[in-house]
Amino acid sequence: MIDKKREYVKQVVTASEYIRRKVDEIPKICIVLGSGLSPLADKITQKTVLPYVDIPYFPVSTAPGHEGGALIYGDIDGIGVFIMRGRFHYYEGYDLSVTTFYVRVMAYLGIKTLIVTNAAGGINDGMTPPSLMIIEDHISFLAESSLRGPNLDYFGVRFPDQTHVYDPEYVEILSEASAKLGIKITKGVYAFCKGPQYETPAEIRALKILGADAVGMSTVPETIVASHCGMRIAGISCISNLAAGISPKPLDGQEVLLNANLISNDNCELVMEFVRRIGEK
Ligand code: HPA
Repeated sequence: MIDKKREYVKQVVTASEYIRRKVDEIPKICIVLGSGLSPLADKITQKTVLPYVDIPYFPVSTAPGHEGGALIYGDIDGIGVFIMRGRFHYYEGYDLSVTTFYVRVMAYLGIKTLIVTNAAGGINDGMTPPSLMIIEDHISFLAESSLRGPNLDYFGVRFPDQTHVYDPEYVEILSEASAKLGIKITKGVYAFCKGPQYETPAEIRALKILGADAVGMSTVPETIVASHCGMRIAGISCISNLAAGISPKPLDGQEVLLNANLISNDNCELVMEFVRRIGEK
């Protein structure tokens, strides 16, 4: 176990040093592009594109819509950002330590803010596709923890507090930014399910009783690790479909991508406005 931990940290350091050598400057913000957000990578001023395959120990994303995975260094109106174009999911077969490896690398490099985006099924009233939801909190106790195993003391404590995984100030800033842009937005709780199968209607009814507003297969393992590392986190879900049993028809990955693309422009504008606002601080 201890050897495994040492090896993991060594890999984090090796990947970080590779990235540090390739970019002029390490930004403070990292944006993870979920379904429908890949156009954001083309809207920024790109300076360096590092394909995941070239970064030591980085996995390769295989999920639909996440191909061509690369870490992009660039800027949004002069504010430096890293963009993760493509992420890694548990359902692809990776251990959570692998899906969250990049978060440790970002933390080691000195990233302070993680902006996570995803596509999600709408559970609660008002969560209708295509629309956007600010993630205020999450539910993940039904899934394995991405912090399972020996604690990585360099990054954080054994039992990290989870009261404010999603920074309350960031929730406010996202609200204000969407109001300014005229984008209708809701706030809610995102439930993580491991996938790759969509949920059953009974599972969705159970999640609704537990307090979930939306459901998806990503993000939470990463935000748990990011909060362990002390990062400030902002999360946006694109509601790409009605969750199982609420939807009058069976769920379909194509519908998810279609709706994610329909709201993509608003989603990109919101993320950019958010970056401008926190970059000014
Ligand atoms: N369930 C799980 N993951 C998802 C969904 C959903 O309904 N929509 C997009 N990702």
